[in-house]
Amino acid sequence: MIELRQLHPAAATELAVSLSQLHRQCFPEDPWPPAAVQEIMALSGFFGLVASEGCDAGGFVLAQAVADEAEILSLGVVPARRRAGLGTSLLAGAATQALNRGARALFLEVAEDNMAARRLYRASGFVLVGRRINYYRRRSGCADALIMRLGLAT
Ligand SMILES: CC(C)(COP(=O)(O)OP(=O)(O)OC[C@H]1O[C@@H](n2cnc3c(N)ncnc32)[C@H](O)[C@@H]1OP(=O)(O)O)[C@@H](O)C(=O)NCCC(=O)NCCS
Repeated sequence: MIELRQLHPAAATELAVSLSQLHRQCFPEDPWPPAAVQEIMALSGFFGLVASEGCDAGGFVLAQAVADEAEILSLGVVPARRRAGLGTSLLAGAATQALNRGARALFLEVAEDNMAARRLYRASGFVLVGRRINYYRRRSGCADALIMRLGLAT
């Protein structure tokens, strides 16, 4: 069974190291050091979740709610635990957290060439609402950033 654990900013120092390790496994080309994770956890309106199935943490989502909007800042599942529903559970959990904080919509940004994430987001109900041209640099050129939105208001 997938379990979601809420991240408490008050425990930022001890959590930042383990979250940084998780982030490194999920984004080996763009790892965030503990200090960067700590900065995100200190943001006003920060919320986050860690997903596990069994003992070890397998994925995380970091997000922020401001006024009536929330945004996913980072989402990742470690390679060995992918395609087992953790990403879907983390998104659903983040949507619930965002709604509880008064958000009416949840936004995120995804690289156009990240097909796994785009399929996950589409399957979770996100729709395309914007595009930042050539936002991501690639060895072989650039990729657009897609802005996606999930309506939360009932
Ligand atoms: C994107 C990511 C979070 C998906 O997590 P996940 O736990 O594997 O996702 P789920 O198991 O919940 O997948 C749900 C659905 O998304 C789609 N999907 C997920 N990974 C996919 C892949 N590699 N190829 C095609 N579709 C995929 C499928 O429709 C899948 O349903 P299915 O398994 O029944 O076919 C994970 O691959 C990851 O961490 N990638 C690296 C970091 C990253 O890109 N983060 C997002 C940045 S915007």
